[in-house]
Amino acid sequence: MTKEKQLVRSVAGIINSVETLEGEGFLVHRPFPTYALSEFDPFLLLDEMGPKDLGPGEAKGAPDHPHRGFETVTYMLHGNMQHKDSRGNAGALTPGDVQWMTAGSGVVHSEMPEKEFARSGGRLHGFQLWVNLPRRDKMIAPRYQEIPAERIPIATSEDGLSTVRVIAGESLGVRAVIETRTPIMYLHFTIQPGGSVTQKLPSEYNAFAYVVGGQASFGEETATRGQMVMFERDANQVLLENNGNSTLDALLIAGVPLGEPVVRYGPFVMNTKEEIVQAFEDYRTGRMGAIT
Ligand code: FE2
Repeated sequence: MTKEKQLVRSVAGIINSVETLEGEGFLVHRPFPTYALSEFDPFLLLDEMGPKDLGPGEAKGAPDHPHRGFETVTYMLHGNMQHKDSRGNAGALTPGDVQWMTAGSGVVHSEMPEKEFARSGGRLHGFQLWVNLPRRDKMIAPRYQEIPAERIPIATSEDGLSTVRVIAGESLGVRAVIETRTPIMYLHFTIQPGGSVTQKLPSEYNAFAYVVGGQASFGEETATRGQMVMFERDANQVLLENNGNSTLDALLIAGVPLGEPVVRYGPFVMNTKEEIVQAFEDYRTGRMGAIT
């Protein structure tokens, strides 16, 4: 028996995303929550919006709805979404932009296609990640961080084969501008054929990769578009390799697990059933505000 420490994390499992409709009926690819995986502590949901080429008038959104107890992170690759909320925030999300919304005690918001994009149509592709908040932070005041594409740091590997957009955490010597409540890593890698990246991460982080395009190799295992790769916590780095013939596009997302009970009901994620009942009551009586 060897006592040698493994150098890179091994693959714990690979799951397929499922196609489903969200909001008014827009297509998402969802690795979790699904029957295969209910959550990936501290992450509650990952939706890949599209990718889809929409005709004129086909774009749909998610009209006014509340959130409490967690954070939503929206990252656009193509398309143009208009966000509005009950605290008076409004803004358009265009390709490359990131919106990190800490719902905390509660907001009502809407995520709709921007008027001109809705009218003319076009390609829609993006991501929404839900990050759970620890018990101590569930009722904090809501906060927004809107980061335009040009402020998202990009790093390139020495061999020039890999680039990374650093949305949260640190990669290839570059640090993100977004602040997170608990330590989170959110990296978007683009790796050319023959390229590879070794990403360091603390051993306590839960980590997964989501393949957006191309094919990723992890030792013996490979994953393709729409698949989520969950890693064991058996080493403090992840090796992402592109042994395929086309560009590999993948998200690497990791964070410290909270290890707390998760009681979720639709747009509310709390620690107890009573807190969910309270959230509905607060929403119903207008305590989360309304979009005006
Ligand atoms: Fe939302």
